[in-house]
Amino acid sequence: MTDFITVAKLGDIPEGEGKAYKYNSRMVAVFNRNGEYHAIDDMCPHMGASLASGHLEECTVVCPWHSWSFDIRDGAWCENRRINIDVYQVRVVGDDIQIAATEKNQGNDSETPSPTNPDGSSDDRN
Ligand code: FES
Repeated sequence: MTDFITVAKLGDIPEGEGKAYKYNSRMVAVFNRNGEYHAIDDMCPHMGASLASGHLEECTVVCPWHSWSFDIRDGAWCENRRINIDVYQVRVVGDDIQIAATEKNQGNDSETPSPTNPDGSSDDRN
């Protein structure tokens, strides 16, 4: 069963911006793109910056620390779309913005695989 929780009210997240909210034991970045809401893991898998404070360009959020970018619709890392951070379901009920884990990340509070070494190999990018 999907458990939606209310994290914000309509108007709390300005258009073209994101804000971070606690969902279970994780922080989730919720973005308002033209009145549509999308939610992904807030923690950048590179070095842990808050993606909610990144710059939103169309459907991509650019990490404020080292400019890695992620698609807010599916969590894909733009340099290699086979690598994803977690996404969350979003719905609006009345004035409430609610999020829920997807089937993929439901009950999974383990760390998201890092794009720096998704297959266990090292990567020298900084
Ligand atoms: S912490 Fe996000 S790109 Fe480095």
